[in-house]
Amino acid sequence: MNIYKNKNIFITGHSGFKGSWLHLFLENLGGNVFGYSLYPNTNPSHFNLLGGSNYFNGIFADIRDQKALSVSICKFNPHIIFHLAAQPLVRESYKNPIETFEINSMGILNLLNVIHQVKNKLTNLKAIVIITTDKVYHNNEWIWGYRENDRLGGYDPYSASKACGEIIVDSMRSSFFNINEFGKSHNILIATARAGNVIGGGDFSADRLIPDLINGIIHKKQTIIRNPLSTRPWQNVLEPLRGYLMLGERLLQGDKLFASSFNFGPDINGNLRVIDMLEIASKIWNKIDYKIETSTDNPHEATLLMLDTSKAYNLLQWKPQFNTIDSIEFTINWYKEFIENKNIITKQQLKYYMRG
Ligand SMILES: NC(=O)c1ccc[n+]([C@@H]2O[C@H](COP(=O)([O-])OP(=O)(O)OC[C@H]3O[C@@H](n4cnc5c(N)ncnc54)[C@H](O)[C@@H]3O)[C@@H](O)[C@H]2O)c1
Repeated sequence: MNIYKNKNIFITGHSGFKGSWLHLFLENLGGNVFGYSLYPNTNPSHFNLLGGSNYFNGIFADIRDQKALSVSICKFNPHIIFHLAAQPLVRESYKNPIETFEINSMGILNLLNVIHQVKNKLTNLKAIVIITTDKVYHNNEWIWGYRENDRLGGYDPYSASKACGEIIVDSMRSSFFNINEFGKSHNILIATARAGNVIGGGDFSADRLIPDLINGIIHKKQTIIRNPLSTRPWQNVLEPLRGYLMLGERLLQGDKLFASSFNFGPDINGNLRVIDMLEIASKIWNKIDYKIETSTDNPHEATLLMLDTSKAYNLLQWKPQFNTIDSIEFTINWYKEFIENKNIITKQQLKYYMRG
């Protein structure tokens, strides 16, 4: 991925879990990175543990603020944009549906509208990768993985807001960045990336399995497990990030075939039930302590969710580098080092992963 060397890369959501890892990944590839996000809303946060604003180049501003977004993008004149800024939690979306739609759906529209408005000033811009989620599919609770051309949907506001985001991208691409007009009225290719449940060091968000277990260890409390039988496509954060970068590379090369949607998920063995994930994790670190407490009061969350990643495999030659156990072990080791030795091993893990 030499293509990122000396390129200007604009990341929204760089203060978050995935965005901070992506920032570092791109720096290691020789890119000039600039981030646009809100201040981290967890304490600790991966962003601040790595040095916060002293380390990361960027600005704290709202994706709903079109003016600030426009000024930042024009000033930086990026070659590529990775859009990750979002309200990413299902349970939070039940509490704040309006804000979730404003940030997730309107956030995507704001970004693409700003680009449309100022595209003549953006002399470098060739590519935009919009990060949505595996939850954009209408969930049939079936045993097959969803393909990119399956029906979109979303029961909870988070899933629906991201599915709306997909429709917005499709509309804005057709209307203003049409691939048939590429190289004529514009030079920008846009893709969306739909990844499964991501695990990895440095995530401290509430209502996610591994962060909940880690918060339990930090606060010496047993973690309550709500949905032990839910199946999710778990993968280490570096796997989809590598996928996003491979997708961005093809867009930067001007390959129109890639201006579409791509799933990134684990191989079939990575589709684990929560309970199986817990068993593996607690074998790796015996401090992990949990109690299963199912209740009918819980808001609805999908039970079965799997992704078909044949498109990424066949067109991008992307496949996960880790098996499930490696992914879980890699993740738990990050937290173990952090809690037991106050070590942040992000850079070591990234180097290890990048060796392939
Ligand atoms: N973590 C997962 O398992 C997972 C799975 C699939 C998709 N995703 C998607 O990946 C992306 C990143 O998720 P994450 O897990 O790193 O989440 P996160 O909560 O750690 O990070 C979210 C980022 O978005 C920024 N943000 C939120 N609201 C904003 C606003 N109004 N204006 C500007 N910035 C704002 C935050 O400041 C933060 O930098 C999201 O789009 C999420 O939907 C995550």
